[in-house]
Amino acid sequence: MFDPKVIRKDFPILSRKVKGKRLIYFDNAATSQKPIQVIEAVANYYKYYNSNVHRAVHTLSQEASQKYEDAHEVVARFIGADSYREIVFVKNATEGTNLVAYSLGLHEFSEGDEVIVTLMDHHSNIVPWHIISKVKGIKIYTVGIDEEGKIDLDDLASKLSSRTKIVCVPHVSNVLGTINDVKTIAKMAHEVGAYILVDGAQSVPHMPVNVKSLDVDFLVFSGHKMLGPMGIGVLYGKEEVLEDMEPFLGGGDMISSVSARLEGGFSVKYNDLPWKFEAGTPNVAGAVGLMEAIKYLDNLGMDNVHAYERDLVKYTLELMEELEGVEIYGPMNPNSRSGVVAFNIVGLGGHETASLLDDYGIMVRSGHHCAQPLHEYYNISNSARASYYIYNLKEEIDIFIEALRDILVISSEL
Ligand code: ALA
Repeated sequence: MFDPKVIRKDFPILSRKVKGKRLIYFDNAATSQKPIQVIEAVANYYKYYNSNVHRAVHTLSQEASQKYEDAHEVVARFIGADSYREIVFVKNATEGTNLVAYSLGLHEFSEGDEVIVTLMDHHSNIVPWHIISKVKGIKIYTVGIDEEGKIDLDDLASKLSSRTKIVCVPHVSNVLGTINDVKTIAKMAHEVGAYILVDGAQSVPHMPVNVKSLDVDFLVFSGHKMLGPMGIGVLYGKEEVLEDMEPFLGGGDMISSVSARLEGGFSVKYNDLPWKFEAGTPNVAGAVGLMEAIKYLDNLGMDNVHAYERDLVKYTLELMEELEGVEIYGPMNPNSRSGVVAFNIVGLGGHETASLLDDYGIMVRSGHHCAQPLHEYYNISNSARASYYIYNLKEEIDIFIEALRDILVISSEL
């Protein structure tokens, strides 16, 4: 197991103060902080070999192209993909789900086809399908959650049919932290001939994820939630599935040839995977930073990352349970969760709680966390959410719990 106190030294931001207090950063599900190794990798790219990729024979372009391609390889290995051809760099997980909705849904689905999403999906795995459904006349069904706060597999079974084209699920809920049984869901989807699209934004940064053993068709995640820079994300797709899909964006580098036809129009041949899906100048600095972030996580070991966060959540739940007037969402069993705890203080809104915590130097997110259907299910409009990563400490959780005690007193006096 790694030593989080040693890790903290790699994160310059953790030594700053907020409102005179030592920064306690508990908003890692929104974005993680960045170690100096990632910051320097990005700076070195701009300092020493900044150049466009795949477009020139000069040395800088060759160096940048090599790193950019290496980054695809590193990501492929990290998630157990067969090849870099299955790794498409996008802006973020959201662009990944949109890519699938447009490239697959818009081109291949037709009226009467069905898409399944869940009550705990992030809006980014719901709204693209809503947009496509209006154009194509496809139906969207929503699967509920069970008592443990996981996707209800019986409900899923009742909604799957031969008309189902794709099942869209979060691997880990960004509100409840619950880890869904994606392997079983993939099997269920494949049994009716449907694809499965997994939102891995909250799983890939926090636990080992292997696309082959899960047997998923698509997996999306964002670099910025896993120590990497903002503006780089990943769409994994099975090679044979991506091969048959139309591109999402058209432009430079995604074609192998474009030729004007005298009779009108153009003859366009698309590039090989994954470049067919990477139109325009890509985020090379982001890719370099993401590669460094993955090296950092690999050194720690994803099993260790998962175990460490589970320990932090266990500690939090034990302490929070003792507080009267705090409502916690999701299962109380830490083994069912990743490092996320959403809660409300009775009588206070999530934003008020988060704003009071800010006075203690504690950063938590508040709002509906882009998961409004789930908040509707709990009959609440928002919540506060503490979410952990490798550099958080039990000492910080102690300060957080003490702050909550103070806030409970404040709220009782309102
Ligand atoms: N999806 C991110 C979150 O849950 C931004 O906060």
